[in-house]
Amino acid sequence: MSGEIVLQGRNLTKHFIAARGGRWGRRPPVRAVEEVSLALRAGRVSALVGESGCGKSTVARLLAQVYPATSGEVLLRGEAVRAHRGAAFRDYRRQVQLIFQDPFASLNPFHRVRYHLARPLRVHGHARSDAHERELVAELLERVSLTPVEQFMDKLPHELSGGQRQRVAIARALAVRPIALIADEPVSMLDVSIRLGVLRLLEKLADESGMALLYITHDIAGARYFAEDITVMYAGRLIESGPSEALTQSPRHPYTRLLVESAPDPDRVTPREAKRHGEPPSLVDPPGGCRFHPRCPVALPACSTRVPGRTELGDGRWTHCWQAEREAGGAVPAGGTTAQ
Ligand SMILES: Nc1ncnc2c1ncn2[C@@H]1O[C@H](COP(=O)(O)OP(=O)(O)OP(=O)(O)O)[C@@H](O)[C@H]1O
Ligand SMILES: [Mg+2]
Repeated sequence: MSGEIVLQGRNLTKHFIAARGGRWGRRPPVRAVEEVSLALRAGRVSALVGESGCGKSTVARLLAQVYPATSGEVLLRGEAVRAHRGAAFRDYRRQVQLIFQDPFASLNPFHRVRYHLARPLRVHGHARSDAHERELVAELLERVSLTPVEQFMDKLPHELSGGQRQRVAIARALAVRPIALIADEPVSMLDVSIRLGVLRLLEKLADESGMALLYITHDIAGARYFAEDITVMYAGRLIESGPSEALTQSPRHPYTRLLVESAPDPDRVTPREAKRHGEPPSLVDPPGGCRFHPRCPVALPACSTRVPGRTELGDGRWTHCWQAEREAGGAVPAGGTTAQ
């Protein structure tokens, strides 16, 4: 099932500006996210993939309205929203939920499972009475397969395994009945043996409830099995997107190719290979043009000076790459002066 667009980012840009200038005056901004546009659809799992520091969590927080964008907008069901505090933020949070990497940090160690699930039910007015609240808590635990539910209700976070804690965090997100769920590396802190179970659960929940799900990960191989479509990000910019199978079978952007080649375990890349592949660039002073050009084996002169626009590749695929633009018959500028 994959339906209407429920949550959308349009040209989202985030520059982090230091609150106070350091000893040497005003510090330059961190250009963490530039012109990111993506759309999440009802009942569909989409993945956002990229290496550490490329801006994935920043995109998640922009979409969740944790902080405002420097420019660009977030649209919920087609309506532009700016809801960073107060009642507007609470209302937004009822519709768009975030799940983080570390379930231990996101659960209060002094409160039992029952409290973690009952609180959002109460805050958002879903529970009519104490008995109804208990019923809803039990239902949530069942949905995330923490059964028998009586056994889990009164446990404290430290009495649960990592996987069970993440299931509680997922149940808590579901309690408010969101229309979009953003899961930021939800399994990367869990033991490999239980990751698949948690991902399957998320997939099942998205399918059952018609919720849009954004799965954020650095693991493109996992994303391929889990998500219907993948968007790849590099150094703050989106570089390629398309249906998972096609994108991983025949990546068009040289960086996606590199990611696919070093999968399934990008962490296994040896130091020499890492050197050959190069390091991600600074986001304070990012390379001009395509930010990947210093690492790109097929860079053209234009790549160091001009940011490539979007080249449509058909079948829902697109990329930002001058090589792809040339292959598609488009005009590629000669190079010349740097334009950010
Ligand atoms: N509040 C902040 N203030 C200043 N810089 C920030 C802030 N948050 C993030 N950054 C910077 O923005 C860039 C993107 O960070 P982000 O956390 O979005 O990356 P990520 O892709 O989620 O990385 P990881 O895979 O390690 O979680 C990084 O260079 C980071 O240092
Ligand atoms: Mg992150």
